[in-house]
Amino acid sequence: MQADLIVGIQWGDEGKGKIVDLLAQQYDAVARYQGGHNAGHTIWVDGVKYALHLIPSGVLNPAAINIIGNGVVVSPEALIKEMKQFDDLLGRLFVSDSAHMILNLHIQIDQAKERARGDKAIGTTGRGIGPAYSEKISRSGFRLGELRDIEALADRVLEYFDNNNAVCNAIGLDKPTRQELLVEFKEYAEKLLPYITNTTQLVWKLLDEDKKVLLEGAQGTLLDIDHGTYPYVTSSSTISAGACTGLGINPKDIGGITGIVKAYTTRVGNGPFTTEDFGDEGERLRVQGHEFGTTTGRKRRCGWFDAIAVKHASRLNGCTDLSLMKLDVLDGFEEIKVCVAYEYNGETIEYMPVDVENCKPIYKSFPGWDKTEGAKNWDELPETAQSYVLALEAMVNTKIAMVSTSPDRNDTIRR
Ligand code: GDP
Ligand code: IMO
Ligand code: MG
Repeated sequence: MQADLIVGIQWGDEGKGKIVDLLAQQYDAVARYQGGHNAGHTIWVDGVKYALHLIPSGVLNPAAINIIGNGVVVSPEALIKEMKQFDDLLGRLFVSDSAHMILNLHIQIDQAKERARGDKAIGTTGRGIGPAYSEKISRSGFRLGELRDIEALADRVLEYFDNNNAVCNAIGLDKPTRQELLVEFKEYAEKLLPYITNTTQLVWKLLDEDKKVLLEGAQGTLLDIDHGTYPYVTSSSTISAGACTGLGINPKDIGGITGIVKAYTTRVGNGPFTTEDFGDEGERLRVQGHEFGTTTGRKRRCGWFDAIAVKHASRLNGCTDLSLMKLDVLDGFEEIKVCVAYEYNGETIEYMPVDVENCKPIYKSFPGWDKTEGAKNWDELPETAQSYVLALEAMVNTKIAMVSTSPDRNDTIRR
């Protein structure tokens, strides 16, 4: 059996959590393959809100198991804290022994680098994501499986401080004592080792036994380390291809690829955003869409749907379909704009160049509608809303198979 995949199409926060939770009711396992607790996936069920950062969004289906793959960077502290919300995770949560750990030193380095960048700051979540992935690539990272021998791990961390003395001094990062490290790692080992395993073998077994596996992306395509708006990106492969390295599966193991996309656009942090609206309409999107970050509480920047960027992202991920989220946030707008081309070096183009910051949006306007909020069937949508969805589908060259009209699991239209 092939696994199905959910991937963010814009700059994150598209509503991946809602769709993974909804679909997870029909899956045996949900697996995260990249990112860390920079992610914030919100799920609303029966008026109760869950904000997940590391635990896959399948956790609310008691019959599904949840996997954190080798490509995720795991803060043991954040994971332990998040696990406290649920009391029945043993045998339902599996964490890769080769996933890299985010330790306090990575968080301090992340924040110090951001301070040093000044007005060129990336606007990271400050969770240590970049430094943890950097150390992994530099072959000096710390893996979760090392909690099996905390004495050796403590030695390696002390060695790290010795080897990076100048950097640590420059940012005021004090070397911990061996005893402090042992106390910290003992707690992590006691609480996490029962969940730590070889998740590659586990995923292969599930697929070989024809179990249904759902792969949950974090962040979004335009934040991808290779294909996003570099350097204003996160430090992992957020696109569908990242699921292969991040779980140890191969491209043939992936079946359906559903891109999650908002009916408009948002971005948290810095970097280019072609369709950003700095005026009243951007503010109205922020208010109606409650566009404040799940992880950091920061205001999300808001603007119009960018059909060029979404077409690009859909091709890059190989999307078999899209879920269009938050259509209800556009309720009451008289006019809705969509970017259909870019003005770039005096020319009109219909693709995304690498220096997208030099593009100006060319808009097409669509008439608005009164209300879509809470709609559960296509026929309940006003005609202008239906036309908007169909126009987007044609522009981005991918079927819009689901339309979401509220945060609630049930307010989802399937086409
Ligand atoms: P994720 O990171 O992609 O999982 O998305 P977030 O959870 O960070 O942000 C999406 C926000 O929009 C959450 O607060 C969701 O509850 C909410 N949401 C999801 N779908 C809809 C929708 O169709 N309409 C509205 N109004 N809110 C939605
Ligand atoms: P979910 O999974 C939106 C952004 C940060 C910053 C950049 C780099 O909820 O969609 P990092 O801390 O990763 O080094 O920050 O990436 N970012 C996100 N933006 N949603 C996310 O996750 C994000 N995770 C990181 O704001 O611009
Ligand atoms: Mg989010």
